[in-house]
Amino acid sequence: MIRILIIGATGRVGRQVLSQLPATDVQVRALARNPQTAGLPSHVDVVRGDLTLPETLDGCLDGIDAVFLVWTAPPAAVAPALERIAKHARRIVFLSAPLKTAHPFFQQPNAVRALGAQVERLIETSGLEWTFLRPGMFAANALSWWAPQIRAGKDVVRWPHVAAPTAPIHERDIAAVAVRALCEDGHAGAEYVLTGPESMSQFEQVHTIGRVIGRSLRMEEISPDEARRELLALMPAFVVNMLLDAWAAAIGQPALVTSTVREITGTPARTFQEWATGHAAEFGV
Ligand SMILES: NC(=O)c1ccc[n+]([C@@H]2O[C@H](COP(=O)([O-])OP(=O)(O)OC[C@H]3O[C@@H](n4cnc5c(N)ncnc54)[C@H](OP(=O)(O)O)[C@@H]3O)[C@@H](O)[C@H]2O)c1
Repeated sequence: MIRILIIGATGRVGRQVLSQLPATDVQVRALARNPQTAGLPSHVDVVRGDLTLPETLDGCLDGIDAVFLVWTAPPAAVAPALERIAKHARRIVFLSAPLKTAHPFFQQPNAVRALGAQVERLIETSGLEWTFLRPGMFAANALSWWAPQIRAGKDVVRWPHVAAPTAPIHERDIAAVAVRALCEDGHAGAEYVLTGPESMSQFEQVHTIGRVIGRSLRMEEISPDEARRELLALMPAFVVNMLLDAWAAAIGQPALVTSTVREITGTPARTFQEWATGHAAEFGV
């Protein structure tokens, strides 16, 4: 029996990890800042905790063997939280990003990257047995980026750098690798760079969503300066700047595509079309 704590269980990837963990030989607990509104399945043991309040973590970690960690909290909270985790658990699987991959898309300096590197450094010296998941662009970003315009009935999505290619990955595939790393031996010290199966421009991704929902969607290229102003309604400035820099650097070469999902899980990574089909309702179909 392995006892697993999911930190980030209400998020896109964490929910999938929770739902894919095997029903036998695993005891799962989910940490949530607000258990009442977490909306997690009733069989899950949901405990109140907050990464920025280290004193709340001991109770959540009591009796835990392995932790799945999503980190979106402020940098100042990293060291105290990891100290608590290392005191209780022996294994950690951290949802990071392709920080060491030479492709220019992943090499633009930014605050999110620095935070991920900070968490990794502390994990590496914590004595925990660690695995780093390094997914590229999530397919699910389309829900916050493009779905609002598409749901509003617009067939033209205004967006910057429409030719920039990425290899969007399904959250279920990231979770499938996480589950292996949490439950199986043999993943200690591994850094898994995870992508979807194909390089697609942002334009091709929107076109694919249109095909799936039966609409003829197009993209209108806007300048980075216009985008900087408009995207502030969707995300904080540091994320907007991170994305604009990454897309600009990516233009002119295919996105990095790896076969790591298939190598670890035995099943090829899902295509963007499969992702869009599964999420069609969220685009207003
Ligand atoms: N989007 C991409 O393309 C991409 C690519 C590569 C890597 N990543 C990385 O993936 C991570 C995000 O994953 P995701 O999309 O699955 O997450 P998400 O949907 O944004 O959810 C974030 C999770 O973190 C929890 N959380 C936030 N602050 C917390 C705190 N102080 N204490 C405890 N829990 C807290 C949230 O819980 P509450 O319910 O309490 O809010 C939620 O469960 C980020 O680290 C990002 O850098 C993203």
